[in-house]
Amino acid sequence: MEKQHIDWSNLGFEYTKTDYRFSATWLDGQWSEGELVTSEYIQLHEGSPALHYAQQCFEGLKAQTAKDGRILLFRPELNCERMQNTSDRLSMPRVPRELFLRGVVEAVRANASWVPPYGSGASLYIRPLLIGVGANMGLRPAKQYEFRVIVCPVGSYYKSGGLAVVSLAVSDFDRAAPHGLGDVKAGANYPGGLYATRKAQELGAYEALYLDAAQHRYIEEAGSANVVIATKDGKLITPSSSAILPGITRRSIMEIGKQVLGMPIEDRPIDLRAEIQSFNEVAACGTAAVLSPVGKLWYDGAWHRFYGNGESVGPVMQELYDTLCEIQRGERPDSFGWTHEVTL
Ligand code: PLP
Ligand code: COI
Repeated sequence: MEKQHIDWSNLGFEYTKTDYRFSATWLDGQWSEGELVTSEYIQLHEGSPALHYAQQCFEGLKAQTAKDGRILLFRPELNCERMQNTSDRLSMPRVPRELFLRGVVEAVRANASWVPPYGSGASLYIRPLLIGVGANMGLRPAKQYEFRVIVCPVGSYYKSGGLAVVSLAVSDFDRAAPHGLGDVKAGANYPGGLYATRKAQELGAYEALYLDAAQHRYIEEAGSANVVIATKDGKLITPSSSAILPGITRRSIMEIGKQVLGMPIEDRPIDLRAEIQSFNEVAACGTAAVLSPVGKLWYDGAWHRFYGNGESVGPVMQELYDTLCEIQRGERPDSFGWTHEVTL
């Protein structure tokens, strides 16, 4: 199979139209079989609850080419579980596991020429989407749904590229309410962050870092990624909160920290003011962000710098990044059983 002729190494995190997308519909309690379609447009009824009341959710995962040419997905069953939890919270029907995984695999397989080659540094980003459609006006669940899986080749999420140091600015705005939607992947969690991100960027940061909405005291997460911290006393810590997205990358990094690096790990509330002096290395992590070391943080009117005066990548984040990427690219035995091959 011949690959597309594109400059794989210089891709950003952008939409590219690929050849096929997978689409299945739900009506009267039943999911259709699902099929590959070629049009990138969805014809929507103007009354669709996805448009009026944001009754929609999405997922994000990646496929990569291994050294031996296999195409590998990373923990896709966890994306399926998370989409099911999100659907429950948004009163949408669950996409059954078999349909979710088949949709992902078929979309990747049909677009195999778009999966970036091994060594390019790029990957195929997979975006499953579930939207409430059909005529509706009052605030009630949609009567029809579409599950769609689109794929695009992407490079690094933050413009710096690769394992480069980024910066965050603590936001005055809240991302999610304590008992709101923060722990599910609802699209509705994101547009409010566009303004907060713009404010963070005006300060020279890449993105906003949110604190808990009740007290503005505990670290929650960045706009599009979770946070992990290596402390000066050798622990790997990550914030626990009922209002943050339970990231699959974060969960994997914590497991790598424990099992591969042998670090004590803690998943607990992290009081920014009280603990910032104990942070040695900080990173943002997620499917799109992978693991992006945070060199400096704008907080309380000043920049706070972490490892190497905020200019270099520390050894813990380097090793976590290398181990994660090696597993994802099949360069290291997958002792955790995290990768899932897409056979062509
Ligand atoms: N937090 C937010 C707000 C996100 O959008 C994402 C991305 O999906 C993450 C965290 C990281 O989650 P994951 O590692 O599952 O991609
Ligand atoms: C992901 O990392 O998959 C996400 O969904 C984050 C998104 C804002 C690009």
